[in-house]
Parts: sequence; structure tokens; C-alpha cells
Amino acid sequence: MNKEKSLFYQDSLLEKLHEIQSTYGYVPEAEIENLAEKYQLPRANIYGVISFYSMFYTEPTGKYIIRICDSISCHLNESESVLKAVKSFLDLESHQTTEDKKFTLEVVECLGHCGEGPVMMVNNKMYTKINKNKALEILNDCI
Ligand code: FES
Repeated sequence: MNKEKSLFYQDSLLEKLHEIQSTYGYVPEAEIENLAEKYQLPRANIYGVISFYSMFYTEPTGKYIIRICDSISCHLNESESVLKAVKSFLDLESHQTTEDKKFTLEVVECLGHCGEGPVMMVNNKMYTKINKNKALEILNDCI
């Protein structure tokens, strides 16, 4: 496959993965099989793409996906205390989902607001300059 064609397939595969993720909230095994067949790729390649991008999941997630940045700028602004409070409040570690499927916690790399850390996202909404009390207020509003 030439490079141009490969990039086309990659873009198309990403679009499909976004559609599937948006429909189911994750990418089910059956859909991975369908994509492997459609693009004539080994399933491992599809899994490789899914695992490369943090917005794709292979398991059902919580209604609220909480992402907390722990990259250097946020870390220097005490993201660790926010993370500790959120972990304790939800009784979760990173990449885990509450039993009631309400919350999924993700510790992530830079969310692009390095000058306004610590930064937390709830689904697509960004919260900047948070502290542990603000983070818990935000979570309480989700309950
Ligand atoms: Fe946290 Fe960039 S380091 S948003």
C-alpha cells in the first residue's frame, strides 16, 4: 500500500472509530472485527490504533469521563492533590470505572492548557485552575 493510500485508510479508520465510540460509548469487539474485515487489516492493527488514542475505549465507560492532567506544568501546580482527592472521592484508580457506570477516571498527558493548571475535563468540558475542593464540587454536581 502506498503512503497516500495508507493515510487515507488511516483517516477513514479514525472517522469510523469516532462514529463507533460515539454510538456505543466504546468500541465493541464485534465492531473491531467488522473494521478488520472492511480495511483488510489484522485485528491487532485496529487495536493498535485504538490504544494509541486515549479517547477510544474497548470497554464500556462511565457516563462521566474524568480526565486529569498530570504532565509537568499541572504537576508543578499541584495536580497531585487534585488527583488524590478525586481518586479518594470516586474510590478509583486511573483507567477504572465505578460499578454504577457513572464515572471513569483517566490520568492523562497534557490537555493543552498548561498555563492554567491544574486542568481537569469532564467529558468535553474543560476546567482550569482547579484545586481539590473545586474538583469535588464539580464531581458532586454530576451526582
Ligand atoms: Fe497540564 Fe498541559 S501540562 S494542560
